[in-house]
Amino acid sequence: KKVDMSPMEKGKEFWTNYKRIDDNLKVVRSRLNRPLTLSEKIVYGHLDDPHGQDINRGVSYLKLRPDRVACQDATAQMALLQFMSAGLPTVAVPTTVHCDHLIEAQVGGVKDLARAKDINKEVYDFLATCTAKYGIGFWRPGSGIIHQIILENYAFPGGLMIGTDSHTPNAGGLGMIACGVGGADAVDVMADIPWELKCPKVVGVELKGKLSGWSAPKDIILKVAGELTVKGGTGAIIEYKGPGVESLSATGMGTICNMGAEIGATTSVFPFNERMAAYLRATRRPELAELAQGFQKNLLPDQGAEYDRHLEINLSDLEPHINGPFTPDLATPLSKFAAAVKENNWPEELKVSLIGSCTNSSYEDMSRSASIAEEAAAHGLKVKSQFTITPGSEQIRATIERDGQMQTLSDAGGVVLANACGPCIGQWDRQDVKKGEKNSIITSYNRNFTGRNDANPATHAFVASPDLVTAMAFAGSLTFNPLTDSLKGADGKEFKFSDPTGKELPPRGYDPGEETFQAPPEDRASVQVAIDPKSDRLQFLDAFAPWDGKDPEGLPVLIKAKGKCTTDHISAGGPWLKYRGHLQNISNNCLIGAINAANDKANEVQNLKTGEWGPVPATAAYYRDTLKKPWVVIGDSNYGEGSSREHAALEPRYLGGYAVITRSFARIHETNCKKQGLLPLTFKNEADYDKVQPEDHVDLKGVKELAEGSTITLVAHHKDGSVDEIPLVHSFNPGQIEWFKAGSALNLMAAKAKA
Ligand code: F3S
Repeated sequence: KKVDMSPMEKGKEFWTNYKRIDDNLKVVRSRLNRPLTLSEKIVYGHLDDPHGQDINRGVSYLKLRPDRVACQDATAQMALLQFMSAGLPTVAVPTTVHCDHLIEAQVGGVKDLARAKDINKEVYDFLATCTAKYGIGFWRPGSGIIHQIILENYAFPGGLMIGTDSHTPNAGGLGMIACGVGGADAVDVMADIPWELKCPKVVGVELKGKLSGWSAPKDIILKVAGELTVKGGTGAIIEYKGPGVESLSATGMGTICNMGAEIGATTSVFPFNERMAAYLRATRRPELAELAQGFQKNLLPDQGAEYDRHLEINLSDLEPHINGPFTPDLATPLSKFAAAVKENNWPEELKVSLIGSCTNSSYEDMSRSASIAEEAAAHGLKVKSQFTITPGSEQIRATIERDGQMQTLSDAGGVVLANACGPCIGQWDRQDVKKGEKNSIITSYNRNFTGRNDANPATHAFVASPDLVTAMAFAGSLTFNPLTDSLKGADGKEFKFSDPTGKELPPRGYDPGEETFQAPPEDRASVQVAIDPKSDRLQFLDAFAPWDGKDPEGLPVLIKAKGKCTTDHISAGGPWLKYRGHLQNISNNCLIGAINAANDKANEVQNLKTGEWGPVPATAAYYRDTLKKPWVVIGDSNYGEGSSREHAALEPRYLGGYAVITRSFARIHETNCKKQGLLPLTFKNEADYDKVQPEDHVDLKGVKELAEGSTITLVAHHKDGSVDEIPLVHSFNPGQIEWFKAGSALNLMAAKAKA
């Protein structure tokens, strides 16, 4: 039976995705011969080569074929520019772009959105035309937050998705394996290159009992974060199971998966159940629900499947939790929270309460919050703290407007912000406290690192369920416990809040609200991608030149970096984020944080031709433009650790880098360098790092014979005329060597597509 992949993608048949899982699993089962976890079923169900792939949890690297890609507007810019430079006519898998990160909260939804459209016009125009050109679905500013829109339209049980945002795992609420990745990975998948993932370990979380009263799905993940800590999920998928799952709505499961990012998990996932089917039906996907029901055997873990670690939570005993400040894993049960506030001298007065965001803005969340606000209103109360509501999508906004929850929350004194990230990502023009002033806020968001919401390091940000955030807004105090404490009504009488109540799904169905989706047009050939040549935020990327076929000689050492050199040192964030779509401008931050071994200073290197000392990027550009010479970087251990930021590889390549030679690499950065046509090499003997001097020129012998396992000899010409020959090794496989020769992985894909 033909089933559309989503209501937005009519005609894209779905059943093939399930058939592939089924076919792959037959092969994998015959090879592994053991019961599989749900995570394994979905992941291995998307293997590129189920016959030949080495499968070893926590050890081997898997090559996978995701079903979808999603990008948010901040990360999409460079990803799309790179995709364009490959010259491919269309994306290889269904892809969407979502405008949510660039909208600043100032006064309220309507005005804030209008202002953002004006300020970011060139970025939005570029994204709108580029997506149209390459067959990508485009969600305009105002449509909502990427993860909410994915849940409402695209996520499906058993699917595999990558997204250029760390909270992509939100889609696990619909039984999808959804992982946050860097732009480079997204570009690969769009260009039909398999996606590489270290074979994840699997942590099983058994849920028993039933949630009730003030305890909400959020409290499950707040508790799990407390147990596993911010690093506890690293390299693992958190797989929930057990009878307690039945008491959770699909959107509640989404909340739990969303915040799995806070414990460093690869992703989180729930087994398929009737609550997911109900959500699929409510979001116009009844056939998909039916199809998933028929495919259940592959959407649940096998009996006896083994987990790398196991946790158990009894939901019937689970107390509401509040996590923070400054880290999401500092979990305190509500009954102990007031004492913790006093003990730690956290500011008691609650300045701002914020509900919504991608984590917690479902219909259920909003209606439970509204039930609290209604009760407060019946006692004549308005909120004491500031109170903001961020709908996760236009659909949620329109539905809660139609059904009255928005009115209730506004009447209580709430301000409805745009359907966008806003304060969750620091897009918040907060005016009520000065920078540096100690204060408390509480949110139903996910992340509460220092300064994340308002750039004030003295803000103590706490994370809790929307229920608690709303109740506390009326108390105006962090020490308020709605389960035990009373508030005084306008009539002077004390009252206690009843347990919050809410509807899982809107009884009258969802109201889609304003049309905010742009489907790719039929005729894409005539679409012109809009980039103003004068723009300082966007710039077309030219394809990098292919390798010249020679062993390079006399390359200057641009910098010998000493000690830690993370992707932040190589490509700084902060004010530079604005230039993420403009490689030339952002390259002015290239390696400015790296410490030069020659003088122990950052961003001060000697130009080996002129003898002058100057900034790293300008010196690199001099070698490229005036000397017409490529250059090399010498690096220390674990070079390029940190994020998967592709700019850290793009910038050195753009400025004329040839090779990066280190004691060792962080793996993702090493791969990113290879993808951009750089040569990442390591000293065979780590101690040889000391032999290369910052003022050396180097030859690289053996590039012409580059083959799997081959060695390259670095000939270091020292200033005093002496020479050292130093053996180097590399980790290129045959396929990656072709990337290097072609100038980049994308060049190779483009050449293949043309052939
Ligand atoms: Fe991320 Fe928050 Fe937006 S978690 S997607 S910034 S709402």
